[in-house]
Amino acid sequence: MSAVFSIAIDGPSGAGKSSVARAVAKRLGAMYLDTGAMYRAIGLYMLKTGVPLDDAQAIAANCAGADVRVGYDAEGRQSVYLGDEDVSEAIRAAEVSLAASAVSTVPEVRARMVALQREIAKGHSVVMDGRDIGTKVLPDATLKIYLTASVDVRAWRRHLELAQKGMNEPYEKVREELIRRDELDTHRAASPLCRAEDAVEVDCSQMTLAQVEERIAALAREAMGAKA
Ligand code: DC
Repeated sequence: MSAVFSIAIDGPSGAGKSSVARAVAKRLGAMYLDTGAMYRAIGLYMLKTGVPLDDAQAIAANCAGADVRVGYDAEGRQSVYLGDEDVSEAIRAAEVSLAASAVSTVPEVRARMVALQREIAKGHSVVMDGRDIGTKVLPDATLKIYLTASVDVRAWRRHLELAQKGMNEPYEKVREELIRRDELDTHRAASPLCRAEDAVEVDCSQMTLAQVEERIAALAREAMGAKA
């Protein structure tokens, strides 16, 4: 496997990007960066400080106050901090998902996050997942994947995932929220979610996590022209 490589995994909410990216990173011995967690931390900061989420100017003016940090434990698991506070759990709340979508439309927030993401990845082999990794953050990535699945499959998986955590969100509600987030992510002016021209699209509606991991690892080997 070549010295330093980067794999960008973009796609809509609930396609399984994080699970896939984490598994691929572990398999290839790369660092994993969940960029959505960083936007979530900014969203949480705005909720905590009472900045109105429909006021882009106020979000832009306040985003520099959010001290977003990323840390890793010995197993390479990522934690996200606001200052010294570990917010890795808190950022998964449903209201934070919507706050993250709102703050991610603000160009000032995006500029800060993109700079931070590039800084964190500098000099490392990395697997990054998000919405703009192949188009903006890592335009020269060794491999770009656009991971997608039908809205029904994504909603069902998310519904089951929440149920496993003891959160009984009705399927219809989960589906509606996904559609709303898709709408926000794909229609915003700043770096909307779209497939990079040179990305390989992987529709995982009918695939298991292991199958997706295998496919991406094979594509990575191909892209690097070496056997893993
Ligand atoms: O992947 P996620 O659901 O944790 O992302 C949270 C929000 O952040 C989502 O609405 C899209 C946004 N996001 C983004 O705009 N750019 C990224 N690189 C990652 C996430």
